[in-house]
Amino acid sequence: MPTLRPNKYRTHTCGELRETDVGKEVVLSGWVESNRDMGGVIFIDLRDRHGITQCVFDPKRSGQAAHDDAAKLRGEWVVRVKGTVGKRPPEMINTKLETGLIEVDGTEVEVLNEAKTPPIEIRDDLDANEDVRLKYRYLDLRRGKMQRVLKMRHKAAMATRNFLTAQGFTEVETPFMIKWTPGGARPFLVPSRLNLGKFYALAESPQLFKQLLMVAGTDRYYQIVRCFRDEDLRIDRQPEFTQVDLEMSFVEQDDIFTVVEGIMASVWKDVLGIEIKTPFERVPYDTAMARWGNDKPDRRFGLEHVVLTDLVKKHDGGGIKIMKTVVDAGGIVKGIRLPKEFAEATPRAQIDKLETFVKGMGAKGLAWARIENGGSWGKAPLAKAINDAMRTELNAAMGAQDGDLLFFQFGPEAMVQTVMANLRLHLGKKHGLIPEFGSAGTWDFFWVVDPPLFEYDEEAKKWAAAHHAFTMPRAEDMPYLQSDPGRVKCTRYDLVLNGYEIAGGSVRIHRGDIQSAVFRAMGIDEEEVREKFAFLLDAFQYGAPPHGGIAVGWDRLVWLLTETEAMRDVFAFPKNNRGVDMMNGSPAVVDAQLMKDVAIQSVAPEEEPAEKPAQA
Ligand code: AMO
Repeated sequence: MPTLRPNKYRTHTCGELRETDVGKEVVLSGWVESNRDMGGVIFIDLRDRHGITQCVFDPKRSGQAAHDDAAKLRGEWVVRVKGTVGKRPPEMINTKLETGLIEVDGTEVEVLNEAKTPPIEIRDDLDANEDVRLKYRYLDLRRGKMQRVLKMRHKAAMATRNFLTAQGFTEVETPFMIKWTPGGARPFLVPSRLNLGKFYALAESPQLFKQLLMVAGTDRYYQIVRCFRDEDLRIDRQPEFTQVDLEMSFVEQDDIFTVVEGIMASVWKDVLGIEIKTPFERVPYDTAMARWGNDKPDRRFGLEHVVLTDLVKKHDGGGIKIMKTVVDAGGIVKGIRLPKEFAEATPRAQIDKLETFVKGMGAKGLAWARIENGGSWGKAPLAKAINDAMRTELNAAMGAQDGDLLFFQFGPEAMVQTVMANLRLHLGKKHGLIPEFGSAGTWDFFWVVDPPLFEYDEEAKKWAAAHHAFTMPRAEDMPYLQSDPGRVKCTRYDLVLNGYEIAGGSVRIHRGDIQSAVFRAMGIDEEEVREKFAFLLDAFQYGAPPHGGIAVGWDRLVWLLTETEAMRDVFAFPKNNRGVDMMNGSPAVVDAQLMKDVAIQSVAPEEEPAEKPAQA
């Protein structure tokens, strides 16, 4: 509870009074949560951020005038109540309220402000259209549940700040308005009035600045910082979001892991009182891709993938021509086994639905088999084509038992991985295997390490940086930078929690010769690089220390921590899923003169479909 200087509005908050205060003269201020007339006695529940206190106006004790004033109060009016703390009669005790043992016998009530009837109800279990909640966000935030989330977010930030400060980190602010550099997310642009025709980009992250701070000798930098990305929005993305960004000098990957594990442990302890186990497991990227088909798997349930490519190769397709064609062309084959208990609840019609689902992600179809009679594939479409030898080995590789359903996907690697990762999640959800938000969550933190440095750009026919071009290749892979770029792994790492990537970073390249070799492998002209990253490369010539860092996606982390429904719930003022702020109406058309001043002319169609105001 805050220490209040008693003033004309309040001596205590609405969550503060206890039995030990009985007999005290108090003044409370807050919002009217409810107003009930019980046989001539008025009961007002007065609410503020700290709690609710019941105020009673019995004309015999409060006097008729105060009683009549209280009777006039309406929901959400802002009022000040003066009275004496009394003990509630036993039958009136409310164990759900912290103040439930007492009530305030009102003697005076003053209306500080009236309120219109709110368009949404101020209660925790509100079930309202989200756009309406966002339009009236200040009312939505008045709900106890939302205030608790804001408080938890703050607590998590404090835990982080305290931990990092104790670890010798300095918080340094870096510019938001920066020069655009290629390779990252699409930026938001800000026209410059003083330099007509030129633009700032809003920083997608402080990446280059934090590396420059290492050159500057800051040693350990952090910042809780807003980042801006004009990306397509998803459930776990906002156009402006927060990172806990950090960078350290003279470190190896393990040093960065220790710090981030320390942040997580402090946050979970301070906010939830939970001790999480550190260090976190490290899963090689290749393992994650093989077992779950993506680099941020939800490992809290089974249905793991089985890689069958080599097995199919060994049998030269095993009689299934399309599989042979795929593996001959360098594609992969994967399977998922749905155990009998769930397979039984999956009739043929359901399998057809699953096929439609995977086709929506670019699959040509969904091969399947229902195991019967000790390993036969029964009526499955491929049952006739597959030879006994491959069927027996496939069954064994997948641990197939009678009654199980096997699903297969074969084709180009990227497609198979995406389809099978999503199919796994889909089946997991469908059969209730994934702990729901709001249930007692298990916290599955792990690192995904050693991803490839490059990915092949089929269109440009060259290797491109899988993350960014400044990520340090693994020492043992340096010899392959030119000869076999595809096998070079790097010191990039992601932290995954319950199927979400909550942090990502890398050890950086600090030496010019390695940097040049990486650029050469990507076929990038150094002149071109100089033009774009000149300031960074210049700085690196003046003694850049070995360094590395990471950024924690703070909103995602708080979202998972608070187990709220949507990531938007952990932002005080989020944009909706179309990037629109329903409350203030941004983005909006601006004054013509303002556009002129920055030499901007809109070529957008005249009648832009206006964002419809939410219906209250
Ligand atoms: P990266 O781009 O991986 O790394 O971002 C770090 C983390 O930020 C979160 N995140 C987002 N959260 C909400 N909305 C978004 N639109 C969004 N985009 C990303 C993710 C992600 O893991 N400069 C590097 C870090 C480094 O290398 O040190 C960076 O920004 O949780």
